[in-house]
Amino acid sequence: MAVPIIQLNAISKSFGGIRAVESLSFSVNANEVVGLIGPNGSGKSTTVNLLSGALPLTSGEIFLDGQQISQLPENQRVSKGLARTFQTATCFTGFTTKEQVLLGCFSRITSSNIGSVFRTRASRTENERQTKKVAQLLELVGLASAAEDPVESLSSGQQRLLMIATALASEPKLLLVDEPAAGMVASERKALGDLLLKIKAAGVSVIVIEHHMALIMEICDRIVVLNFGQKIAEGVPQEIRTNRKVIDAYLGENH
Ligand SMILES: Nc1ncnc2c1ncn2[C@@H]1O[C@H](COP(=O)(O)OP(=O)(O)O)[C@@H](O)[C@H]1O
Ligand SMILES: [Mg+2]
Repeated sequence: MAVPIIQLNAISKSFGGIRAVESLSFSVNANEVVGLIGPNGSGKSTTVNLLSGALPLTSGEIFLDGQQISQLPENQRVSKGLARTFQTATCFTGFTTKEQVLLGCFSRITSSNIGSVFRTRASRTENERQTKKVAQLLELVGLASAAEDPVESLSSGQQRLLMIATALASEPKLLLVDEPAAGMVASERKALGDLLLKIKAAGVSVIVIEHHMALIMEICDRIVVLNFGQKIAEGVPQEIRTNRKVIDAYLGENH
């Protein structure tokens, strides 16, 4: 059996008396897009925050590509191949689209070479590589023509695509995206679905939180459903669509 890209072993998170995530276990394999769905407050964003290291675990273990990462700080998880976007769009005002993606590249530059970044030949080669990578990522997400535009001039849908490009700049094995379609119109959602499938085809596994069920059902290989912090179902889209517990807890109100 191949080692999963990410494996969660009974992870839990309590905020005071609130059990936001309770003994959650699932894994994501190479070449998989896994959807994480559930009602508001069911623990989806908390799960992403636990995976990324934005929040410490109350208990449980997380393995990235077979390696325990449960205690690692966020930046070390990024350099080991875990990248995320946020539920609330957070672009860096004052930068151009291109510059923001370049910032995402810096998690790949080590502290030993950061001082020499603009001096040595090796770092000039590295700079050229980054410039090329940024252009490719902007092309991938459909923002090539906005490369020189200030990020504040982008629509909210475009800013979400920019966040995905920025996250991909760290060359992750796993991308976590929290509600990427929020604020997008139908055509943008369609493009987003295509983009996430292209990202998978490029060899990056994806965990996607999303409320748009048509999008989730179309792009996910598997879906994990949360309710009150617990996993109530896991399966391929067709199984989830017809699962009685899922319909009662979540899909009933959405359809
Ligand atoms: N930083 C926090 N402090 C206290 N409670 C929190 C915090 N973050 C989330 N919660 C609570 O944890 C539960 C799960 O929240 P969240 O993971 O944001 O749900 P979802 O993303 O599924 O809507 C909710 O009851 C929420 O109020
Ligand atoms: Mg959330």
